[in-house]
Amino acid sequence: MQNKPFSLKPILSEADIHKRTAEIADRIARDCPKSADGEIVVIGLLKGSFVFMADMVRLLHARGISLVIDFMSVSSYGSGTAPGQLALSKDISTDVGGRFVLLMDDILDTGNTLYFVHNRLASLKPAVLKTCVFLDKPERRKADFHADYVGYTVPDRFVVGYGLDYDNRFRELPYVAVVQFDK
Ligand code: XMP
Repeated sequence: MQNKPFSLKPILSEADIHKRTAEIADRIARDCPKSADGEIVVIGLLKGSFVFMADMVRLLHARGISLVIDFMSVSSYGSGTAPGQLALSKDISTDVGGRFVLLMDDILDTGNTLYFVHNRLASLKPAVLKTCVFLDKPERRKADFHADYVGYTVPDRFVVGYGLDYDNRFRELPYVAVVQFDK
């Protein structure tokens, strides 16, 4: 953990998140295939999506959606290469060809990560590919990318909680807070 003193200022409560995730689940459930064989594939980007995804898959289950789960992980190409050069450090093992795929992440920031992952998944020819993010920080967007389902739009501040971390900490917070560094 860095030594710089900071405090956390909550901006989204557990109750806010509970209500909003249910609203998004309603929207996704409306768009999902309803037939008996209409199983969907939910893919989470590690690590940040895991809390949002855990809630969302249970909300979808409660709305009659059957699904399978997989995860992907993306990292920078390595030291010495230009920023923004991304590579898959973990790929899916599920066949997504011809299926309804829901890609989930914690936050859409510059958009570089989801642009990269979305292209990769699109190349596997799913029937439908939708993206769902808990938070959207449009002020920092660099890639031409928008998500189909967005929990909240947030200003350009560093946020933690509900899966989002600062130095791998605070992911377990049931609320979202802005990290405020002391002057
Ligand atoms: P891009 O810029 O590719 O980044 O859209 C997406 C990833 O960057 C991380 N990220 C954050 N993590 N608080 C965090 O804890 C933030 O405010 C924040 N902004 C970006 C996150 O891992 C996301 O998947």
